[in-house]
Amino acid sequence: MAEKKLPFEPYKIKTVEPLKITTREERDKIIRDAGLNVFSIPAEKVLIDLLTDSGTSAMSNRQWAGIMLGDESYAGAGSYFNFARSVKNIFGFRHVIPTHQGRAAERILFQVLLKTGDYVPSNVHFDTTRANIEVLDARAEDLIKAEAYDPEIVIPFKGDIDLEKLEKFIQGKGPEKIPLVMLTITNNSGGGQPVSMENIRETSRVCHKHELPFFIDACRFAENAFFIQKREKEYSSKSILEIAREIFSYADGATMSAKKDALVNIGGFICLNDDVLEEKLRNNLIVSEGFPTYGGLAGRDLEAIARGLEEVVGQDYLAHRIDQVGYLWDLLNEAGVPVYAPAGGHAVYILADKFLPHIPREQYPGWALTVALYREAGIRAVEIGGVMFSGKDEKTGKDKFPELELVRLAIPRRVYTASHLNFVAQALIDLYKEREKVKGLKITYQAPNLRHFTARFEQI
Ligand code: F0G
Repeated sequence: MAEKKLPFEPYKIKTVEPLKITTREERDKIIRDAGLNVFSIPAEKVLIDLLTDSGTSAMSNRQWAGIMLGDESYAGAGSYFNFARSVKNIFGFRHVIPTHQGRAAERILFQVLLKTGDYVPSNVHFDTTRANIEVLDARAEDLIKAEAYDPEIVIPFKGDIDLEKLEKFIQGKGPEKIPLVMLTITNNSGGGQPVSMENIRETSRVCHKHELPFFIDACRFAENAFFIQKREKEYSSKSILEIAREIFSYADGATMSAKKDALVNIGGFICLNDDVLEEKLRNNLIVSEGFPTYGGLAGRDLEAIARGLEEVVGQDYLAHRIDQVGYLWDLLNEAGVPVYAPAGGHAVYILADKFLPHIPREQYPGWALTVALYREAGIRAVEIGGVMFSGKDEKTGKDKFPELELVRLAIPRRVYTASHLNFVAQALIDLYKEREKVKGLKITYQAPNLRHFTARFEQI
């Protein structure tokens, strides 16, 4: 396995956080005490944590230096101006409003723009954007191209929205029912796949033809820009910064979770050009997030975001980042482990129903795989399948499962080395060889909403 070209880490390690090694016997008890739910395990009992790439990045020495320089003034802090300068340098919008994380940006934007019965189309909404739309009795509509639901098709931009569907949707519902259109780049809920510049440009054209604002969910904009540079011919000699600027030049605004592509542990923002809308968003922000020059963050957090955004558009950083994900994907794919194709920007997604074909969807193969992976190797992954996205068929009242039963291995930025990835791949390959030993599960407790966080299970 190790003869493959290792992704070269473009950093050296200055501070270390020891990993605690546990035995299989200890982990068996820990996971049983946790009700067979990896969200309920103490993190210190996890060896390699691939639960999320959100808020888990390692900061650089420059960012840590910025933490010490943070200006904690309530109003007009210097760190806010550094933050705003850094955001504007990439995103180009006139206004930027800090928030404590991505979903706060979504809540504020939607509370101001949406009313009951409205629609918000997107390629695919992430769960928090969907939830923030649905709590306002509006509808979140996914209009991605059909290929995205086929885990085997390899096309360069599997995150593209279906422009024909979008045009029809706007005409069908009427533009007055659609306060904005969104695009998620990269598409987290669909394999971490990128959206092409052409698709972004065309989405903008369709929106503006109907005089609809076009917003980008920009969490992973730098990873998306890297794919554009590698896969869209006319961008091969452009820098990531130039590509990112062009992406946002087509939009009217963006929401951002800085916990991803700003390389920090907390933070977010909204940016936009419209002066009237900005004033309304700012007034909403003050009620719950804080004064507009800190928006629920400390001055030091703003300083870390400012510096993280400068680093995330670096060519060497991004090449390694995307290489790491591709490397793990290749190791698994070559060993026959079923994975969603092609590799995404921040995570490898395992096709759990193909990995464990003897476990029916009603017995949650994805969840069973996360439990087995923790028990056997101490690795924590997240199910994105029948437990997370359960539903009831409105007509039959029976359980309805999402199209894909996935387990996501999200890679934190700058945290793990190639040898950690080898370890993860080997653990999955070993588990795949013994897959028939993994058993299905039944739920013994579930909360009415977002049940995956607290549900408890028993083995069947
Ligand atoms: N949009 C996308 C595409 C996301 O992936 C996330 C978070 C958010 C918005 C919300 O941002 O967490 O800062 O409030 N995704 C995390 C994940 C939770 O694990 O994929 P937040």
